[in-house]
Amino acid sequence: MPCTLITGSASGIGAAAREALVAAGHDVIGVDLRNAEIIGDLSTAAGRAQVIAAALQRCGGRLDGLVLCAGLGAQVQPPSLTVSVNYFGAVELLDGLLPALQRGAQPAAVVISSVASAHLPWDRNPLAAALEAGDEAKAQAVVNGAGPQGGNLAYAGSKNALTVAVRRRAPAWGRAGVRLNSVAPGATETPLLQAGLDDPRYAEAIQKFIPPLGRRAEPAEIASVVAFLMGPAASYVHGAQIVVDGGIDAAGRPTQF
Ligand code: NAI
Repeated sequence: MPCTLITGSASGIGAAAREALVAAGHDVIGVDLRNAEIIGDLSTAAGRAQVIAAALQRCGGRLDGLVLCAGLGAQVQPPSLTVSVNYFGAVELLDGLLPALQRGAQPAAVVISSVASAHLPWDRNPLAAALEAGDEAKAQAVVNGAGPQGGNLAYAGSKNALTVAVRRRAPAWGRAGVRLNSVAPGATETPLLQAGLDDPRYAEAIQKFIPPLGRRAEPAEIASVVAFLMGPAASYVHGAQIVVDGGIDAAGRPTQF
């Protein structure tokens, strides 16, 4: 039975991914702030180190799968929290758990990014240099000093850098024999989306974000793609970002992909 670690497993897309992977025969170790096998806080370097250590202990240093779903929305204050969880809470786990994945059977990892990863392209992303350099304090200072745009900058900037981080790792992870991909969901019915809808600063933009399919995704519709990417049917899919957004990216940027 493959042993798979899932962050953000207590809610939304992470909970649905957990359900889908359990149904596919995985033994899941969940990580979250509550209601998980490993209780840990991915917003701090110490919390991330504790999660990595607990995960390695629980899986005996050998992991078959990793699914990184933990994340915060643009409405969270201070915006630096969003950068820390969305970017460092994923990238540090990727790097910290690669050796354990290399010891796994048909190992694979999936990172949940967002369609927002394309909203602030790398060459215009004010967080790009700090995030790529691993300078968490600098990235935090940039978003916390950005005024009312800080939340959007934290979310789109961290998701853009996260997708880039996945793509940058494709050569080394391929050589290591571990497949690594990202999924970019559009608006999905979860507590994170609801928190944005409940915030007057973000509600209108989210309401207007209507995809060609005319409705938002259910978490299970993202989780089924995660389960595909984690399974043997995706054995040649590596370094890809799969957009699962009801067509909103194609409608907004038909010539860019
Ligand atoms: P959610 O709020 O339902 O689930 C996120 C989970 O992450 C929660 O269980 C939460 O406790 C956990 N988490 C947050 N901060 C944490 C921390 N410091 N340490 C450990 N765990 C922490 O949200 P949802 O929507 O399921 O989000 C999952 C991922 O999908 C996120 O990365 C989000 O950015 C991404 N996403 C969501 C979209 C949506 O419309 N819901 C759209 C595009 C991407």
